[in-house]
Amino acid sequence: MREQLHLLKEKAEKEILQCTSLNDLNDFRIKYLGKKGELTQILRGMGKLSAEERPLIGQLANEVRDSLESKLQELTEVIKKKELERSLSAEKIDITLPGIRPELGRQHPLSIVIEEIEEIFMGMGFTIEEGPEIELDYYNFEALNIPKDHPAREMQDSFYISPEVLLRTHTSPVQARTMEKMRPQLPVKIIVPGKVYRRDDDATHSPMFHQVEGLLIDKNVRFSDLKGVLLNFARQMFGANQKIRLRPSFFPFTEPSAEVDISCIMCKGAGCRTCGHTGWLEILGSGMVHPRVLEMGGYNPEEVSGFAFGMGVERITMLKYGIDDLRLLFENDVRFLRQF
Ligand code: PHE
Repeated sequence: MREQLHLLKEKAEKEILQCTSLNDLNDFRIKYLGKKGELTQILRGMGKLSAEERPLIGQLANEVRDSLESKLQELTEVIKKKELERSLSAEKIDITLPGIRPELGRQHPLSIVIEEIEEIFMGMGFTIEEGPEIELDYYNFEALNIPKDHPAREMQDSFYISPEVLLRTHTSPVQARTMEKMRPQLPVKIIVPGKVYRRDDDATHSPMFHQVEGLLIDKNVRFSDLKGVLLNFARQMFGANQKIRLRPSFFPFTEPSAEVDISCIMCKGAGCRTCGHTGWLEILGSGMVHPRVLEMGGYNPEEVSGFAFGMGVERITMLKYGIDDLRLLFENDVRFLRQF
């Protein structure tokens, strides 16, 4: 046994030198000093020894164990230190290197203009409403006084999903939805930004475009209130010297109705190509809410009145930034988008 212990010590001392990691050392500990390790294995034979020999062998075994353990301890320290040094040098950073500049995204020109419109109307006390883009025929047409087979439906050549469901052709259905939701509260004073869809596609028409709807219902709302609100909007949006012009028009859901022009922002009204030499640019449709529409929305047209308007965001954006082709807004070419 003495012999065995000496051989074990010799073998172990050689082997420990091969250890290069904490994992290796752990394996080593298990192999030699563990519960089923080689040292324990040898000591199993102790029972067969004589009473004089047993303490001597016991002592030798302890010496072997202690010596291997202290070697293990020593080597563990060394390897730990090395691993720390290695990880520190791997982590080292050169603070003199130039940083990587993150690419800054930019807001889309349509979003810029929608937010600007929202700010202006919120300043006048309007709140923001939204409605679904997939809309019921009822809200898109019927509740706006456009019954089935009404010729006004043709003005808005539409994407139908089923006979009763379509992509909304304007933001006006949110007028009806909001009245339903709020009745009988007053005032109803909202704007509605959103996407709308029509079967149009050329340099000035896209099958998807954006509108901002406005609706004010209260006691004694007059046509002059509509004019005042829109003039205030035009001046904040396009400049303090803006003029507006109202021309008689027709919408089934307003009576009377008016189309609203702003004085041309390119030539200031003198006449140029942008305004077709008229000095005026059309930006929205509007009017006093039709009594039938108030009624269907749950308000009594004898007691309350209101005005509504709907403006095209693409058109306003193109005018504001001098963009000559609507499609640029939807092609997502960064060379174009970076300019805003
Ligand atoms: N919804 C109309 C359109 O899309 C615009 C409009 C809104 C007109 C509100 C009058 C009142 O053409």
